[in-house]
Amino acid sequence: MMNSQSGFALALLGAASVALGGAITARAQAPAGSVWAGVYTAEQAERGKAAYAGECASCHGATLAGIDVAPALVGAGFLNNWNNTSAGDLFTRIKETMPLSAPGSLGGRTVSDIEAYLFQANGFPTGEIALPPSAPLMAGVKIVAQKPAQ
Ligand code: HEC
Repeated sequence: MMNSQSGFALALLGAASVALGGAITARAQAPAGSVWAGVYTAEQAERGKAAYAGECASCHGATLAGIDVAPALVGAGFLNNWNNTSAGDLFTRIKETMPLSAPGSLGGRTVSDIEAYLFQANGFPTGEIALPPSAPLMAGVKIVAQKPAQ
């Protein structure tokens, strides 16, 4: 049985971790907007390119054009599949189902680096802030296939 004092201490601990979690989230959250706003950095895409070569290229091809049943991850077909979804949706798809040979084996940072590389390969511009390493933090970033008119 928990006495009221330890219950109070636990409640305090809970409040502190919620406050801390809130602060971390606020700092790391990708700004809401579309992939055309510059939602990853050039260095991140560079790291992602190396990770892609090791984890994905064997099936999806060195040029991301796809091989046999593994679809292209660049171009109109790919963009059409993901149009009007979010960067978080694509992150979750990769994190939970890829590499097909070892789903769930990649950490969040590696997945977001690879996603940055996919964004670069699909012509979305680089920006000042890296794509964050978890789906909820990039849920506000919309994937829009067509570049909006300026
Ligand atoms: C062993 C082969 C294999 C590897 C390695 C692999 N994939 Fe795939 N991937 C597939 C196949 C096959 C499909 C289509 C069937 C499916 O969705 O399961 C697919 C589908 C996808 C899709 C969905 C494409 C769309 O347009 O809907 C994405 C995104 C993707 N892979 C990304 C990746 C990334 C990123 C990696 C590396 C981390 C990776 N894959 C590694 C075989 C692979």
